[in-house]
Amino acid sequence: MKPKVFITNPIPSEAEELISRYCDYEIWEKDEEIPKEVLLQKVADAEGLLTPKGKITREFLQHTPKLKIVSNIAVGYDTFDLKEMEEKGVLGTHTPFVLDDTVADLAFGLIVSVARRIPELDQYVKVGKWIENSDTLFGTDVHHASLGIIGMGRIGEKIARRALGFDMNVLYYNRSRRRDLEEKLNIKYCEFTNLLKESDFVLLMVPLTNETYHLMGEEQFQLMKPSAYFINCSRGETVDEASLIAALRQGSIRGAGLDVFEVEPVDKNNPLLTMENVITVPHIGSATKKTRHAMALKAAENLVAGVTGKIPPNIVPELRHLIQ
Ligand code: GLV
Ligand code: GLV
Repeated sequence: MKPKVFITNPIPSEAEELISRYCDYEIWEKDEEIPKEVLLQKVADAEGLLTPKGKITREFLQHTPKLKIVSNIAVGYDTFDLKEMEEKGVLGTHTPFVLDDTVADLAFGLIVSVARRIPELDQYVKVGKWIENSDTLFGTDVHHASLGIIGMGRIGEKIARRALGFDMNVLYYNRSRRRDLEEKLNIKYCEFTNLLKESDFVLLMVPLTNETYHLMGEEQFQLMKPSAYFINCSRGETVDEASLIAALRQGSIRGAGLDVFEVEPVDKNNPLLTMENVITVPHIGSATKKTRHAMALKAAENLVAGVTGKIPPNIVPELRHLIQ
């Protein structure tokens, strides 16, 4: 008998095909999110779960006596309660590598868009307000500006590579110093507070953990230059959003480009949505067809390995010891 698995969202056909070869599977195909009671009923006898954002909590795991693996279709796994998964011996996997360049492209898109005010000026043109040669259209140069990247992981590195092409001066802060990259990419390690003080663009690319929760708050925004921009492509909870809103209102920073929010979907009354100097996108860092397909396929491979007694290729580092 094939192992039983549950999939919480529609997935591309190649991923589904792979799973169908090895597993007895069911997919929640509806557009709306699966209701919690239905999910708990579906996973009661499942050995594997494939999901892009399912919260794996202590309570959830009390309903999944047979569960061996949760395969996340995302690189971030802040939705996992790692301690509980470890205790129950449930493996967790994610989808690193395949999305790095795609997220870095978006990060750069946000930098250029906010600095050159592309969405705002797009609206000018579309409502017939064409004005040439006016200083009201002026933006800020990206080339030769300093970019401070907080979090020099795989995606941070890809962003730094792009910054080289723009002749930017790249500073970075990371938990562990990346001497291997310093010469190769001409980037400079900087203490966190110095990075905030010196950068024209501060870009956050850290995973959400207890240490990075509200990493950016009132004090940190105050340290930034009033002419600087803040870009977040990581997780909304790494920023104390009330402090970001206050900083933008007071002019302690010039603008922001945001792919993520403290609460998602973002509340339509969130003041960030009505600020001209803030650019927003709905958590789409990895959202190209090619990359999302690659992520789904990788997640399917992890899932199949986890329920067929093989070692999944992308177990999250904190749970790797479970298979040793
Ligand atoms: C997206 O945010 C991801 O973690 O893959
Ligand atoms: C994510 O994959 C990172 O290491 O930045």
